[in-house]
Parts: sequence; structure tokens; C-alpha cells
Amino acid sequence: MEFKSSRRDDTKITDSDLSEQIKAATKDSHVRAENTELMLSYQKGQITLPQYKLLLCSLYEVYRALEDELDRSASHPSVAPIYFPQELARVEALETDLEHFFGPHWRKRITVPAATQRYAQRLREIGKQNPRLLVAHAYTRYLGDLSGGQVLGRITQKSLSLSSNEGLSFFSFPGVPSPNRFKQLYRSRMNSIDLTAEERKELLDEAVRAFEANIEMFDDLQKILSLTASTDVLKEDETTVVSQKTLY
Ligand code: HEM
Repeated sequence: MEFKSSRRDDTKITDSDLSEQIKAATKDSHVRAENTELMLSYQKGQITLPQYKLLLCSLYEVYRALEDELDRSASHPSVAPIYFPQELARVEALETDLEHFFGPHWRKRITVPAATQRYAQRLREIGKQNPRLLVAHAYTRYLGDLSGGQVLGRITQKSLSLSSNEGLSFFSFPGVPSPNRFKQLYRSRMNSIDLTAEERKELLDEAVRAFEANIEMFDDLQKILSLTASTDVLKEDETTVVSQKTLY
């Protein structure tokens, strides 16, 4: 099982470590991501059902691409140290949530906005051409899910008055009993990856790009929601989301 400490995992983290550099490189992008309309709705505790449903559709597309590519490159020397499918994989959880909100025929009813498609396409592209860069994307999504994401789960439950955890599997990581301890392990695994200066720079740039892809995905999603709200196509209590063809 992967969730084990190794000698390298216990090593002290310093400024020259990838985990610190990637955090510093994406600090401004993180602030920008937090200030997207969608994330602001979250922070005000005002997430709506259409927002959440459309977000789930997008996350499904992104995690399918990310996890397909991580699985394919699981033994790549840069990917292997941060490959934690049992602890982190989100695709099944997202399928459960999508079925909850869209019903048994959810596959035919989900919408993938253009910016989400571009994000997924980038993941598939680097997975094939330069799998090392998947580390930047895995960091951006999974460490985010284990950080602010945990608060977002509680806000979703409250805002949508969801009883129990139905529709909220995405936020739940049963294989990660302590997100903080797991994040420490993940950081030390990142720091164990052997990189040349050039490879490190590429990876840091890709992390900024990963945040950018998320920001574009959130903005696109909001654009769709404002269009559908003005034409009244998508109401809070409806499970049908307007198809992408209608919107572009
Ligand atoms: C870390 C909050 C959105 C990616 C964190 C931490 C907080 C936080 C408090 C620090 C946790 C710690 O140091 O242990 C939020 C809030 C958000 C938000 C309130 C929006 C409402 C996002 C988004 C992404 C993201 C949209 C990327 C898609 C990350 C990552 C980390 C992180 C990668 C780990 C940083 C590191 O330790 O290297 N977030 N976040 N966050 N967040 Fe966010």
C-alpha cells in the first residue's frame, strides 16, 4: 500500500524543495482562483444547485483525463512517487454524485463546457508527450481538494441542504484519514523526484498553467450559468442542463 512513510518522506522540507517552489510559484494564481465568481459564491455560502451540477460535470471530464493519464504513466520515475490511486482517485466518486443529481441516464445528460474540454485535452496531451508534467496537475487538483476543498464540501452540503453525504462523494476521501498528514507525505514524495533545473522550471510553469485552466473552467461555467439563467433554461429544481450546442 502506498500510504507509507519512507526515509525520504521524513526529511525536513526546505525552500529549494519542489513542494515549496510550486506553492510559491502558484501563490498569485491561487488568489486569482479563490476570487473567481464561482469560488466567491462558495466563500459566501451561496453555491446553487445549477452551479454545483455543472461543476461536477466539468470535474468529471478533468479527473477522467488526469487519472487515465496518471494510470498510464504510473511507473514513470516522476509520476510513481505521487501515484496514490487508492487514496486520491475521484472518478468513481464523481460518477456516484452525477448519478445522484442527473439520474440513471446521467451520461447522456452531462455538459462539458469548452474551457473544460481544453483543460482535459491538455492533460491527455502531456500524458502522452511529457508525463512528468502530470505532477503539476495532480498537485493542483488533489492538494487543493485536500485543503480548501474540504471546507467547500461542508459549504455545499449546507447551501444545498443536502441530507447525509448524498451527492457529496467528491469531497470525501475515505483513504485519507488525516488530510494534513497526507499532504506532508505528498510533498515529501514530490521532493524526492529527480529533476534537472530545466525540468523543474517546466514543471513550475505547468503548475501555473494548471491553475489557469481551473480559472478558465470556472469562468466558463459561470458564463453558461448566466446565459441559462437569463433565458430561464436551467432552473434550480431541474436536473436537465442545457446542452453545449445550445450555448456555443
Ligand atoms: C491550499 C483555501 C481554491 C489549490 C489551500 C489552503 C487553503 C486553501 C486555506 C492552505 C491549506 C494548508 O496550508 O494546509 C482555498 C479556498 C478556495 C481555494 C478558500 C476557494 C474558495 C483553490 C482552487 C485550487 C486550489 C480553485 C486549484 C484548482 C490549492 C492547492 C493547495 C491549496 C494546490 C496546496 C498548497 C500547498 O500547500 O502547496 N487552499 N483554496 N485551491 N489550494 Fe486552495
